[in-house]
Amino acid sequence: MSDAKTNDRMEKIVSLCKRRGFIFQSSEIYGGINGFWDYGPLGAELKRNVKDLWWNSMTRMREDVVGLEATIIMHPAIWKASGHVDTFTDPMCDCLLTKKRFRADQIEAQSGTAYHYSGAKDSASGKQNSEAYAVLLPPGKPPESARKTATQFYQDRGLQQVELLGERTEKVENSQKFNPENGSLLTEPRPFNLMFKTHYGPVESEDNVAYLRPETAQAIFVQFKNVLETSRVKVPFGIAQIGKAFRNEVTPRNFIFRSREFEQMELEFFIKPDEAVEAVAGSVSKATAGHPGEPQPNWGWETWHKYWVEERIKFYENIGLPRTTLEEYWQKPEELAHYARATVDLLFKFPFGTQELEGIAARSDYDLSQHERFSGKGMGVFDEDLRGAWAKVDVDKKAEMQKRFVAEKAKNLVERKKLPEAEANTQAEAQAKIFFENLAKGQYIPHVIEPSAGVDRLILALIANAYAEEDVPDEKGKIETRVVMRFHPRVAPIKVAVFPLLKNKPELVKKATEIRDLLRPHMNVFYDDAGAIGRRYRRQDEAGTPFGLTIDFDTLGETPELKDTVTLRDRDTMQQVRVKIDELLPMLLAKIR
Ligand code: GAP
Repeated sequence: MSDAKTNDRMEKIVSLCKRRGFIFQSSEIYGGINGFWDYGPLGAELKRNVKDLWWNSMTRMREDVVGLEATIIMHPAIWKASGHVDTFTDPMCDCLLTKKRFRADQIEAQSGTAYHYSGAKDSASGKQNSEAYAVLLPPGKPPESARKTATQFYQDRGLQQVELLGERTEKVENSQKFNPENGSLLTEPRPFNLMFKTHYGPVESEDNVAYLRPETAQAIFVQFKNVLETSRVKVPFGIAQIGKAFRNEVTPRNFIFRSREFEQMELEFFIKPDEAVEAVAGSVSKATAGHPGEPQPNWGWETWHKYWVEERIKFYENIGLPRTTLEEYWQKPEELAHYARATVDLLFKFPFGTQELEGIAARSDYDLSQHERFSGKGMGVFDEDLRGAWAKVDVDKKAEMQKRFVAEKAKNLVERKKLPEAEANTQAEAQAKIFFENLAKGQYIPHVIEPSAGVDRLILALIANAYAEEDVPDEKGKIETRVVMRFHPRVAPIKVAVFPLLKNKPELVKKATEIRDLLRPHMNVFYDDAGAIGRRYRRQDEAGTPFGLTIDFDTLGETPELKDTVTLRDRDTMQQVRVKIDELLPMLLAKIR
């Protein structure tokens, strides 16, 4: 799709979202606040439906996942243990002229001629500034424009009659060192921590610093033991959480795609290490193509990971995002975090490009191990079956398993942590000793598979996928463009609209309100009696309401055989059929569930 078409589509989507009350800019009457968005009446319903569907499919429909709802502000040591205090950063740089801030890795690469200056002199006062500066000009732009920008740069630093010094030029290819908007040199990139910082208690000091959580996952890890001990769950099992997360993104963009306050739906699914599976089940299954089916005791991390990738795709298909709108991106070994064994990004084809909707990571035992180390509280589990099974594993097999463990750990330390081979081997052997000693006692720290989705990104994906324009005849046969949001009935904010044909006929109104009240306890119903019926249909098309019910004189018995029936209009086909009032509820429930 061309850029113009892409922008056009995004503009239409943003405008519809505001016009119909899906999404508003936060604090709009005060000029808005960048990176924050509010959900209006339709958006709030859509979001609630999405979260409920995720929650139900992840927890209530499964035996092996339970829920959690933790606080946003947690003990700051958690973020030290998780690595967020030290490494949750984006590279940031500023325009030396306008001070505008950029994410260094997202700057559009540019080519042209760079005009460098070693400094400048004020020819009136003789004052000198020896700060080096440069401006990049695209091919064909006259040198004067670089000089003008550079003059402005030195004027902003106190010189009045600027005489530029030491001008030299350089050919530049694909550089990210210059501001794409004005050619000015940018500062060197520096790390910028994305966590919002605050203080708890009445004193603002370094001792009571707290962070707004940048992800919901960490609360799950730190409550792992409490959940395990209070629920009837055994590894493998998962803990699911939906909640707000905050990231002070350098450049929030693409509407609700990247914002500073957003919601996540995260599952941490805890599994046995492969060595424990092998001891108990005799061998570990290898992941094959497609969905691996119902969980089995011999599944290792690879099969569990594949399982969750497929389960997540199934979820998206179920709510109206076909597989063809998604892409799987398997991160390359060099892209993986040092603790991750595999990560799949599920990408969606947004109007502005194919981008991440959800990440599904196999995170080894990193998270629980880190919290064990930092908190001093054991995060291991005890498994009686494992202890018994390990005692029966023969000596050669144990030796072979240890050899494999050491080889894999050492390889990882060399490749990801860049340790020299000898040191990597020593560390891997030390880890193996502790790990296998614990295994013999039936103890291990669970590994984890983490499907982590953004609610807001999913809302945007659903809206973008649903948005359609089509030319259709109006009631008089004139062709007009109909905007229709083709939401899957499961997520649609309003499930059914109820229309009395005329609002000034009490019998029609009475029947219509009776039908509204019949359906209302089971689904979100919208009652609309304003304007011509065609206009009412169009309004609901834009809201994405899949079904419209019209109560007319036949409903009241004008045509005796149609008494107590209504017209059911399908949003997508615009076909209308007569349905008995008695059959409405089960019929609609079957379509929206
Ligand atoms: N616990 C893992 C984790 O947080 P992530 O890839 O940083 O992983 C997971 O985030 C998901 O959260 C992303 O796939 C995306 O859907 C959503 N997300 C992340 N940052 C976001 C932002 N600034 N705005 C909206 N959604 C965001």
